Amino acid sequence: MPAEIVGLGVAVPPYVLTNADLEELVDTNDQWITERTGIKERRVAGRDDSTALLGKRAAEQALKVAGIGIDEVDLVMVATATPDYTLPSAACILQLELGMTRGAAMDVIAGCSGFVYALATASQFVDSGAAETALVVGSETLSRICDYTDRGTCILFGDGAGAVVLRKGERGVRAFSLGADGARSRLLMTPAGGSRFPANSRTVAERRHYLVMEGREVFKGAVTAMAASSLEAIERSGLKPDDIDLVVPHQANQRIIEATARRLKTPMANVVMNVARYGNTSAASIPIAMAEAWEQGQIRPGQRLLLTAFGAGLAWGSAVVDWTLPNPAEPAPEEPTQPAMPIVRGLLDGTLWDGADMLPPLRAAVPEAAL
Ligand code: UT7
Repeated sequence: MPAEIVGLGVAVPPYVLTNADLEELVDTNDQWITERTGIKERRVAGRDDSTALLGKRAAEQALKVAGIGIDEVDLVMVATATPDYTLPSAACILQLELGMTRGAAMDVIAGCSGFVYALATASQFVDSGAAETALVVGSETLSRICDYTDRGTCILFGDGAGAVVLRKGERGVRAFSLGADGARSRLLMTPAGGSRFPANSRTVAERRHYLVMEGREVFKGAVTAMAASSLEAIERSGLKPDDIDLVVPHQANQRIIEATARRLKTPMANVVMNVARYGNTSAASIPIAMAEAWEQGQIRPGQRLLLTAFGAGLAWGSAVVDWTLPNPAEPAPEEPTQPAMPIVRGLLDGTLWDGADMLPPLRAAVPEAAL
């Protein structure tokens, strides 16, 4: 019996960074960004926000939709490239924030494909009976590794989170196809801050702890791999490409999405698109797009969805999902927004963290009996 999506949720920070804002930071302009990427604005997490905290808000919504209590969750997976800390996992911080006292928790690092990788993994746990209920979160605070002096990357990325709850059902995740090519890992990476080049004053001075990318090469790889893995996932699902009702692609760039749709012979009317409003939110982009499309009635019960993603690794993945969850009576009201420029300036000169507490408080002492 497959893993069924029984709840989903989304959380984005209120701070909006527009193309006009970026014109103040780097040598770029709204016309170039719009024509080359389709992006008009993206969100930036505030100083009191984080990957786990955004994930918490998305997860709480998803659990509410599912009508499931946090203590029923057996497995929490967070797909992210920007965990709150290198250690412990963002999933454990999310567990702490959700007040969850049982179950397993782990992160999945597969760049922008992280959500598809995590969905494929968690659905195996549910399908096999190893977990009854799984929470899969894609959450990112890419603003924290984005170099706002590099016009080749800073125009692309944004922050946000999406979450789904999985349970065993009649219909759900039908099939997936995952792939990776580590030989092309240099094309998109964060060079320093890991064990090869640990952070020190030199790596910081040389700005090596920020994400770097060879955009054109990644672009070419994305279109080829997303189309091929989509076709493989569809074939494994026992369906034909024509049977797919809606495609939910990773929101990296409008041109990548359009080129992939052309290869799949899918009309753009059947493709979910919100890259204009959020930019590339990496592992969060598919669950955010999915949750919004569902809220707005674009995703409906009875539809067959194709999810497809590509990113750092290089790694890619696609999944075919039978949608069963009834739509909400009405979409959630839009939250008021605020300008993100003060936050970005604080990120650039480090003043954002003045007086901030870097560690979450220890909520409760471990009972003696548990030791
Ligand atoms: O999520 C998965 C990971 N990432 C991706 O999927 C991103 C994949 N790549 C892309 O989306 C695109 O390659 C970019 C949007 C990053 C760049 O678009 P492009 O059409 O590939 O441009 P390019 O890098 O080939 O650059 C074309 C020109 C260059 O100028 P010259 O050499 O032709 O004079 C760049 O210097 O555009 C220039 N350029 C810019 N101009 C204004 C590069 N970035 C900018 C900018 N504003 N922000």
